[in-house]
Amino acid sequence: MPTIIARSLHSLKKNLNRVKKNKKIGLIPTMGSLHDGHLALIKKSKKLKFFTVVTIFVNPLQFNNKNDLKKYPVQEKKDLNILKKINVDLVFIPKTQQIYPFGYSTYIKEINHSNILCGEYRANHFSGVLTVVCKLFILIQPDSAFFGEKDFQQLFLIKKMVKDLNLEVKIISVSTVRDSNGLALSSRNKLLDSKSLKLAGAIYKILKKSKVKNFKNTKALVLYLKKQLINNGIVDIEYIEIRQSKNLEKVNILNKGHQPRVFIAAYLKGVRLIDNYKIN
Ligand code: PAF
Repeated sequence: MPTIIARSLHSLKKNLNRVKKNKKIGLIPTMGSLHDGHLALIKKSKKLKFFTVVTIFVNPLQFNNKNDLKKYPVQEKKDLNILKKINVDLVFIPKTQQIYPFGYSTYIKEINHSNILCGEYRANHFSGVLTVVCKLFILIQPDSAFFGEKDFQQLFLIKKMVKDLNLEVKIISVSTVRDSNGLALSSRNKLLDSKSLKLAGAIYKILKKSKVKNFKNTKALVLYLKKQLINNGIVDIEYIEIRQSKNLEKVNILNKGHQPRVFIAAYLKGVRLIDNYKIN
């Protein structure tokens, strides 16, 4: 079957109604500019034999900075060719007006874990993410939705929303996909020149040095990571924090039982990069 392209709510609904009774739906929400990280999510959905729906929507609600939204890479034609080639069943490409019509005023807001880590620096970012993801869940009613572990806090908050709101969708996570240098794949990487791309690979190499047995406490580890990053040319560090994987609580003493995870955000040539690593 050729890939269906739906550009309106009407077309989305009409096409989904045809499949809903006999097939499970797998949803991969994206903002386009697809890379192998997205393809890993799609592959997983297809492996599970889901009717696979990919959405491409650069969600203005989750950008706290107008310039960042303007700069966000868009390559719709290329994305569609990729999706057709791998036989995605349906691609939904709504216009902003269809998702947020004039007068739109309803938002999802999580209040305990949205203002830490990335949320501390990006006001209302996660409210924007949760609002659009919730809308896509309502519009598409997927059995499962797929998200990458690179955006660990996003994944955590989406799981929390599903639990808190009794949404009937299973969240399936997929490990971070990295380039040959170790850099976590992200659409924003397209904004980096080749020299910065190479430099950015240092982030993961340094994160991997986080070993429980080598550091007395998180303070010592954070200090070490910071020094290493700066020595490797990553100087514009937004945060480095160690938190528990299961509840995002801060940890002070390193203890494997807490499943500590190091979270980092840094800028390279004005491009925001994030990553996380489960400390062992
Ligand atoms: O991870 C992303 O690309 C976005 O935050 C998402 C989940 C597609 C919502 O706009």
